[in-house]
Amino acid sequence: MKKNTITIQYKSLDLSEVSEEDKLLIHKAEEIRDKAYAVYSDFYVGASLLLDNGEIIMGNNQENIAFPSSLCAERVAIFYCKANYPDSKIRKIAITAKSIKEAYHEVVTPCGSCRQVISEYERNQGSPIEIILKGEQEVLIFNSIKDLLPLSFESLVLRK
Ligand code: THU
Repeated sequence: MKKNTITIQYKSLDLSEVSEEDKLLIHKAEEIRDKAYAVYSDFYVGASLLLDNGEIIMGNNQENIAFPSSLCAERVAIFYCKANYPDSKIRKIAITAKSIKEAYHEVVTPCGSCRQVISEYERNQGSPIEIILKGEQEVLIFNSIKDLLPLSFESLVLRK
């Protein structure tokens, strides 16, 4: 038997250390977050994508009384992006959350389903998607979804 270790690297930054490009992307995520339809959880999430053509695409969580019909902010933004700009590459995604029930200061990390979706598009486009997670005090930056979803399912057997 061999024991293996997977190491994940990410940056944590103070807000003052964030680049102007990332600040704008975060600002867009915050703007759209506050327009989320989150009437059941009161947990508002915003996601913004920077495309290789310079376009910024935004999405927020959309809930439904049939709870499983709801969709996370990340996938709302990504599916809109891929429906309208199928040939564009996604360079970065910024994600931020706010709860109106109680103070929420942490970064929000994407759920497993969103990680899976980001992972497939990252593999398709052949270049990493940077993940920017914005909390109240700090920003975490991951170079690739591979750092948030190591050993992801990507069976070539299913590909024609
Ligand atoms: N949510 C997102 O939109 N993105 C995440 O990364 C985590 C969770 C949403 C789904 C649901 O509307 C609410 O947050 C509470 O789970």
